[in-house]
Amino acid sequence: MTRANEPIMINKTLVKNRLTMAPTVKFDYAGEDGKVTEKHIEHYRERAEHGCGLICVEATAVTPGGRFGKNHMGLWDDSQTDGHKRIVEACHNAGAAVIIQLNHAGLNSNPELGEQIAPSAVPTRNENVLSRELSIDEIHAIQEKYADAAVRAQKAGYDGVQLHACHSYLINQFVSKKTNLRADEYGGSVENRARFGAEIIRMIRERCGADFLISARTVGIEPDVATAIEIAEEYVKAGCDYLQVSTGIEWNDPSLKEEGEPYNLICKLGVLFHEHFKGRVPVSCVNGIMTPELVRYLIENELVDTVDFGRAILADPAICEAVLDGAPYVKCFECPRCQYGPAMPHKCPAALKRMKA
Ligand SMILES: Cc1cc2nc3c(=O)[nH]c(=O)nc-3n(C[C@H](O)[C@H](O)[C@H](O)COP(=O)(O)O)c2cc1C
Repeated sequence: MTRANEPIMINKTLVKNRLTMAPTVKFDYAGEDGKVTEKHIEHYRERAEHGCGLICVEATAVTPGGRFGKNHMGLWDDSQTDGHKRIVEACHNAGAAVIIQLNHAGLNSNPELGEQIAPSAVPTRNENVLSRELSIDEIHAIQEKYADAAVRAQKAGYDGVQLHACHSYLINQFVSKKTNLRADEYGGSVENRARFGAEIIRMIRERCGADFLISARTVGIEPDVATAIEIAEEYVKAGCDYLQVSTGIEWNDPSLKEEGEPYNLICKLGVLFHEHFKGRVPVSCVNGIMTPELVRYLIENELVDTVDFGRAILADPAICEAVLDGAPYVKCFECPRCQYGPAMPHKCPAALKRMKA
């Protein structure tokens, strides 16, 4: 037994241990209609059955135009809810809590599927193409889409939702001064830049009730850790129950130094947030957490409340049993294959090793 086995209550959701699955999109699993497929259900069932306490289902589009690609899962329409019920059922039957990450890609939306809208007109991934600045009415309409998707998530039985508020997507584009040049109530001060996400949290709280878990996967640097913490404070004031800390658009905080810790600088952002929010809001860290030893170090030293597995749990879901009971597992090779979607043959070497064993 390690402290990683200890349950944690997040809002009214009891999570049986400290292990969470980070949202990791399966690029080629959804149909072009954005609906859940059998592959998704089996994928999440398998990870829940290996003991993961909280499954965070992958980035799910709140509008068809806000997708990364045509096979991106969605919750923009009532017809998509039933598939999600089956993911929830599979996870709950295995004893895991389950939340779903809601996303609009904003200026990083796939231009073949929708307009590249953003807080301001700034270069998209294609430097020659600018995003289109959203009007206030359009901002409110997109916020409604997040709230509508959260209501569908609740109907599907999810314990909560996670706002995708990092990794350069729309909510992150609002908080970053690189992509938000607005002079109205959605730009300028931290409070204004965080308003887009904070208002979505308030709308979800209003519609889904006090007990529904609302997490923010928030920026750990934007442009520095202190500002990122102020941004997260706005989300907490709005009713966010759980902070899962990852990366933003800007990356130049000189105060962030490597100090011989056994975890990397991105994981350290979670540790710094935990120092700040300890006792008020549970905090999770992510990135490069590939071994049971590192999980135990982070949890037993009370450096964070929970630990997110990304590639490690894709490579072998038995990483959870390895932490909880010392069972054998195949360690992620940290190759880049799973990150680049269906365009390249992304056979995971750890999964292949498991199949041969
Ligand atoms: C295949 C793949 C898909 C991902 N999809 C998402 C996603 O849907 N939402 C998100 O916030 N992060 C996504 N990420 C980032 C991961 O959640 C995680 O932050 C990152 O992989 C670092 O953690 P790790 O070192 O444990 O893999 C993805 C990463 C990978 C490898």
